[in-house]
Amino acid sequence: MKAHELTKHFERLFGTRPKIFRAPGRVNLIGEHTDYNDGFVMPAAVAFSTYVAVAPRPDRKLVIHSEEFPGSFEFDLDRLPERRTGAWCDYVLGVASVLRQDGHKLSGASLLVHGEVPIGAGLSSSAAVEVASALALMSLNDTQIPLPEVAKLCQRAENTFVGAKVGIMDQFVSCMGKAGHALLLDCRSLEFQLVPIPASLRLVVCNTMVKHDLATGAYNTRRAECEEGARLFATWDPAVRALRDVSLELLDQYLDDLPPLVGKRCSHVVRENQRALDAALALTEGNLLRVGTLMRDSHNSLRDLYEVSCSELDIMVEAAQDLPGFVGGRMTGGGFGGCTVNLVREEHAEDFAKRIAERYLQQAGITAQVYLCAAEDGAGELN
Ligand code: GLA
Repeated sequence: MKAHELTKHFERLFGTRPKIFRAPGRVNLIGEHTDYNDGFVMPAAVAFSTYVAVAPRPDRKLVIHSEEFPGSFEFDLDRLPERRTGAWCDYVLGVASVLRQDGHKLSGASLLVHGEVPIGAGLSSSAAVEVASALALMSLNDTQIPLPEVAKLCQRAENTFVGAKVGIMDQFVSCMGKAGHALLLDCRSLEFQLVPIPASLRLVVCNTMVKHDLATGAYNTRRAECEEGARLFATWDPAVRALRDVSLELLDQYLDDLPPLVGKRCSHVVRENQRALDAALALTEGNLLRVGTLMRDSHNSLRDLYEVSCSELDIMVEAAQDLPGFVGGRMTGGGFGGCTVNLVREEHAEDFAKRIAERYLQQAGITAQVYLCAAEDGAGELN
């Protein structure tokens, strides 16, 4: 995206010069469905971004346009809707409403949203809109909020206003991502460690181009099953507040006492937490064989125990296995469609992209989109 094109478009619409804020989407390398269990995740921000151009208005209106989403919206700042309207502008409105709830000043604003993160691909397009909008709205009133707090505020907007009970991963990495690195994030303390991704590797993100309907409902059911698991473990060990606190030993000791489905979900989460920690160490030590094994185990566990994969994701994961330069791959994000993430040696990346798309077309009958990515910096203002 060229910033000056967005500026020009904004000037044509609103007759004034904007500031521009950018927030990236993400891929998660490992640690899936662990964030809402207070566990560990290891995402990286990627170059797909949402840009929000903003300028103050003399009235008390919030005017929201987009280059690619339909409709344009106008709200009275003193009578903002209290819950979702069902349109894409909910991500902006939700952030405005949470800022207001927290006692921050809001003034009249014109916003133009330009989104490059593919929608519905599980690359966190919504978190990117939230974070870029938050920074844009904050800038008009010189509101200073540390970025990790901005992430929490955006998560709250999505939980309470939009009504999706997501964890903190997407908003956090969109705020705090660092070029060339993944973030090993402790979703309880929000402490994180930057894990360098070797320059010899590319992140190859393969979009299955499907998104099955059950995604939202199933996400909430999985969360409830995890909470049920945590509640039961707490009766056996009062130190357990979330599945994060369940050790592998405790899991083994009580697995047979859990309802079978809850047991499967807990097995995934407890082991996936450990895999995220192990993968961070292996990547730091350059032990790519181990990273590959852990990613493979993660995928199998999401498929068999957590049951959030689908045939298209499984085909895409299998299609990668013996391609030259392949280090490791798995489904990424919430599941039921969306993308796989693959670590691929740089010199093979383009050929890998071509060949995996051919295989996927042959086996799934769908033309995939394949993105060659690198880890990028988190959100900020464009100069
Ligand atoms: C979605 C949510 C995240 C996380 C993942 C699964 O992307 O937004 O908070 O729970 O699913 O790891």
